[in-house]
Amino acid sequence: MLYGRSAEISVLDEVITRARDGAGGAVVLRGEAGAGKTALLDAAAARGGAMRVLRLTGVESESDLAFAALHQLLWPVAGSPGALDALPEPQRLAVRAALGLAAGGAGDRFLVAAGVLSLLVEAAAPDGLVCVVDDFQWVDRASADALLFAARRLATERVAMLLAVRGDAPVKGVPLTVEVRGLAEAAADELLASRHGALPVQV
Ligand SMILES: Nc1ncnc2c1ncn2[C@@H]1O[C@H](COP(=O)(O)OP(=O)(O)OP(=O)(O)O)[C@@H](O)[C@H]1O
Ligand SMILES: [Mg+2]
Repeated sequence: MLYGRSAEISVLDEVITRARDGAGGAVVLRGEAGAGKTALLDAAAARGGAMRVLRLTGVESESDLAFAALHQLLWPVAGSPGALDALPEPQRLAVRAALGLAAGGAGDRFLVAAGVLSLLVEAAAPDGLVCVVDDFQWVDRASADALLFAARRLATERVAMLLAVRGDAPVKGVPLTVEVRGLAEAAADELLASRHGALPVQV
């Protein structure tokens, strides 16, 4: 149960609805530890109806492992037979290498980024795609570059990208940011009451 946050949810809803209608885009949720970013991502991802959801959570211990985050996000797509076939060959080869499905190492970073965009667009058929990226501050640099390259090119795609980031870690090139601050007093009261029942006024 999510208390409060109607303003934040309505921004996320708009990004998701526009994406479903073919005008995709990205939004950043920014806030301190425990502010409620993951809770908002979960609530938003559940609001896409029939839209597919792909998800990744940055892992601190994998921050230096190139393409680890992309592997997490794209494995449900790229790991199934035939999914990569629609990509132009240079992109397919680059993505396969980045995901460890073929030899060749990181190769051409542009081709990986273009391939990630193509794969997200493929994964968005038929009902659209919500791409959820949590703890972006721990996403490895190679994955972050490819994800943000794709995020900047969604305007005519049926893909919404929702990114949550802690503190002031940069998320370059995504102009729409929602600051996740503390809950308003009424919502905080409701949350407290739900967890602890009626409390003395002083508490
Ligand atoms: N609006 C809300 N209503 C109810 N529970 C909430 C709300 N916001 C946050 N919570 C709860 O508070 C806790 C912390 O929230 P959450 O994990 O979403 O924070 P976060 O911003 O993702 O933190 P971190 O930066 O550590 O990942 C969780 O148990 C979450 O379910
Ligand atoms: Mg979180």
